[in-house]
Amino acid sequence: MRSKGTEPKKHDGATIAVLGLGHVGLPTALCLAETGRRVVGADSDAAKIAALQRGECPFYEPGMQELLLRHRNNPRFQLTDDIESAIRAGTILFICVGTPQRENGAPDLSQVEFLAHCIGRNLNGYKLIVEKSTVPAITGQWVKKTVSRHRRHALAAEIKNRTTYGKAAGFDVASNPEFLQEGRAIKDFFHPDRVVCGVETVRAQRLLADLYRPLNCPVLFTDLNTAELIKHTANAFLATKISFINMVSDICEAVGGDISQVAAGIGLDARIGRSFLNAGIGYGGYCLPKDMRAFINLGEENQVDVSLLREVEAVNNGRVRRFIGKVRQALWVMQGKTIAVLGLAFKAGTDDIRDAASLRVIRMLLEEGAAVQAYDPKAMENARRTMPEIAGRLKYCASAPEAAQGAHALLVLTEWDEFKTLDLRQIRELMEVPVIVDGRNLCNPAEVRRAGFEYLCMGRTTPHIERRARRTTLSHKQPARVLSMPRRDADKGTPLVLPLEA
Ligand code: UGA
Repeated sequence: MRSKGTEPKKHDGATIAVLGLGHVGLPTALCLAETGRRVVGADSDAAKIAALQRGECPFYEPGMQELLLRHRNNPRFQLTDDIESAIRAGTILFICVGTPQRENGAPDLSQVEFLAHCIGRNLNGYKLIVEKSTVPAITGQWVKKTVSRHRRHALAAEIKNRTTYGKAAGFDVASNPEFLQEGRAIKDFFHPDRVVCGVETVRAQRLLADLYRPLNCPVLFTDLNTAELIKHTANAFLATKISFINMVSDICEAVGGDISQVAAGIGLDARIGRSFLNAGIGYGGYCLPKDMRAFINLGEENQVDVSLLREVEAVNNGRVRRFIGKVRQALWVMQGKTIAVLGLAFKAGTDDIRDAASLRVIRMLLEEGAAVQAYDPKAMENARRTMPEIAGRLKYCASAPEAAQGAHALLVLTEWDEFKTLDLRQIRELMEVPVIVDGRNLCNPAEVRRAGFEYLCMGRTTPHIERRARRTTLSHKQPARVLSMPRRDADKGTPLVLPLEA
């Protein structure tokens, strides 16, 4: 990204229209503007466009506010709620509308279809139509068909009205799935591991190669279906890694072991890699759960055995129940207890609470008769809107210490950095009972126990196993540095294992 204060770059390439300014479209539009492109960002939500024009981002994404302020008055970056004018202004049209999940798990593609229809009716010159929204395989073919059908209508109308507008207009369809992660979308845009482009013509390939040249990253060109499949496969694989490590985490709890070290141990194998091996309360958000459903649906519709993916989903669905089991284990009776919840966003770095595990946890706590005091650094407004306060039962707090006030347990549900550096002694003093149940394995067990907390987490060494581990170590005559000697927890008298030395 260019530094603040410098003039935005200029690039003479084709004008880009980004259709749909949500979590995908808005970062895409702003980042393309930052590469010097002429960009028209369009969204049918007039209130959203007005807010953007005032310099207000509709959601939190690190670095996005700065980009918006930088390009708001850039004459090469325009915002409009008139989709048709944006289509006519652009040569490369990015489809970035939502593809929400329907009841049967299949994505609802009506917004994509609507855009294809509009594009067909507004072909005033060659267009490269690029799907960026996550869509199942063969959607590109449907977009092509739909644009053609409506273009025919437009041509017939022109002939009837004796106008020549759009007569020679041709178009290509491409698939350019996005791999941006919420909370790091701007970084991901400028430093992608790869860009995938499904194309059918050399012209489309050239336009996209030119567009992504400034990023200086590998660009994989495939056919349309393959690009669409790459997107679903990537998200399904990430979800599989998470469910896999969560299952192993349960095995660690059952037989003894530390899931963080298991993840480190397998992650050092370059074939496996360490990322997406953090055990916890499972994956949430708008993408992974929805894309898994859509991929399962695609397989089932085509008579492919997708039981592996169904299991991944089943493991994920069981994570919140398992976590609540730990809370119950810590508190015994939940009725009448006050519980501090730290973290509402589905992950750190975002204010997004769509399909967040935290909301399911809170609902279950309330059902069991507990009162909840919740805090999140960014997601409070969204949470309040989705789950309004209930007097004496659900309260949103301005800080972690406020949430901890009088609590019988403190739950960590989002991996915000802020929660790693809590003043543990202050929190302990504020709480009625010093218990932490950590759904993200964010805390250092030795530290929190030293600070006087009872500490439960996901799949990390339990005391009776530590004794067993120590016996094993000694019987193998390992040097002392490999496994530190157990210490006594100051308050509980339970043996502990210090983190292994590097
Ligand atoms: C995901 C993909 O990672 C992106 O590549 C993709 O572009 C995006 O979906 C999309 O399809 O638009 P995102 O939804 O932002 O990105 O979230 P992730 O970072 O993938 O995290 C998803 C969930 O998994 C979160 O709840 C997170 O806390 C959880 N997670 C992640 C774990 O439980 N363990 C891990 O090791 C990693």
